[in-house]
Amino acid sequence: MKLRTIYAHLDNELKRIEESLEKTVHSEQPTLQQASTQLLNAGGKRIRPVLVLLAGRFGQYDKDVTKKVAVSLELIHMASLVHDDVIDDAELRRGEKTVKTKWDNRVAMYTGDYIFAKALDIMADIPSISAHSRLSLTILEVCKGEIEQIKEKFDWEQSLRTYLRRIRRKTALLIAASCQLGAISTNAPKPYSEALYRFGYNMGMAYQITDDILDFTASEKQLGKPAGSDLMQGNITLPVLYAIQNNECKEKLQQLIGLGNEQAVADAVNIVLESGGIAYAEEMSRTYLQKALFALEGLPVSKQRKTLEDIAKVIGKRKF
Ligand code: IPE
Ligand code: IPE
Ligand code: MG
Ligand code: MG
Repeated sequence: MKLRTIYAHLDNELKRIEESLEKTVHSEQPTLQQASTQLLNAGGKRIRPVLVLLAGRFGQYDKDVTKKVAVSLELIHMASLVHDDVIDDAELRRGEKTVKTKWDNRVAMYTGDYIFAKALDIMADIPSISAHSRLSLTILEVCKGEIEQIKEKFDWEQSLRTYLRRIRRKTALLIAASCQLGAISTNAPKPYSEALYRFGYNMGMAYQITDDILDFTASEKQLGKPAGSDLMQGNITLPVLYAIQNNECKEKLQQLIGLGNEQAVADAVNIVLESGGIAYAEEMSRTYLQKALFALEGLPVSKQRKTLEDIAKVIGKRKF
């Protein structure tokens, strides 16, 4: 089943979220307006808003409150992408030119800040101190994760723990926060918001591991960016960590990254594919997804719980 099909019943709400996103990033300033709409219209899975909508249903559901939290979380994600594309020197995002490519790094810096500020402005309507503090702490962690990623590039000796810490910070915690804040903002009982947090965290770990696998297994068309780009950037992801346990593989990969041409990328991708690193990473992703499913047992049986379960089940199978 496709992700979109699983949450087709949320279509009307998602449409309103889309309208609200568009309205929120509106600016009199033409560059900010164009740069933020560029990313918005390029697509994206909107998985974080979906999680907010579902988590919000475990409390006293309020469409308006939940919509604001959902919009805010998607904007924080988008802002982090604008900045991420600067540090990753990425040309394409969601199949379109990145802000840093279409304009430049300076514009990307302030477009990201602008979108961040818009996210906080929307959240300001939510009367929950703990929601605000959770959100700030999550953004701090994303910053740490992204900075660590810069420092840990080309570090061929890094451990599995280092990798897991990095993906927790840069990805899993924002997904966990989407679930948790959806619940907190509708005053869901604490055990529920905690279970949702654990669900989001474990699903988020699997989500990033899958993203790292797709960099090797998916096509440029599916990815919206060239395949193999993580590795050529010196980003040591889980399949690579597995492959470089073998010294011969490690030396070859180091050489190929140094060359950096198209053939070298293809060869490097092949080495990782042949190493068994993909199966290893898939297994780890499955383990996290099992934990995510286990966390759902702390929630009442309901349509929303079933939808979360279905999302977790397809995350490891997604192709983009
Ligand atoms: C991309 O996130 C970056 C990661 C954390 C893996 P998504 O895969 O959710 O990106 P969009 O929003 O669908 O473009
Ligand atoms: C995800 O990092 C972006 C953030 C969490 C800010 P990546 O660099 O791994 O993701 P893509 O591949 O650019 O989407
Ligand atoms: Mg990155
Ligand atoms: Mg990136």
